[in-house]
Amino acid sequence: MNWDMYTDKVIEHFMSPRNVGSMVEPDGEGHFGEPECGDSLTIYIKVKDNIIAEISFLVFGCVAAVASSSITTELAKGKTLEEAFKITDNDISNALDGLPESKMHCSVLGASALKNAIMNYYERNND
Ligand code: FES
Ligand code: FES
Repeated sequence: MNWDMYTDKVIEHFMSPRNVGSMVEPDGEGHFGEPECGDSLTIYIKVKDNIIAEISFLVFGCVAAVASSSITTELAKGKTLEEAFKITDNDISNALDGLPESKMHCSVLGASALKNAIMNYYERNND
């Protein structure tokens, strides 16, 4: 394992990921698989007054995927659904003080699974 390619923040989130686990009766659930490497992420959210009150994730993937998933939950928690929907892969990699070029696609997992969870929430609450 070549740790030198990762920032301290990536390693710290990989070693102690935040908000790990599935969620009982989430209000929204989103999945995304990264075709480039086969890694995948599921994000669960609970919504209160249009705000992401709780969030958790399960990931199958590399160091950068775990760290990206973890920081995505931190970025999204407490945000309105509209604000959280706007979180980009760049926001995620910036929050990790950067990802190596070959690992930039790992941050897409977090942004995409989060968007899917929010859309799933809207679908469930449409009628
Ligand atoms: Fe997918 Fe690392 S390439 S686990
Ligand atoms: Fe594919 Fe990290 S190598 S998500």
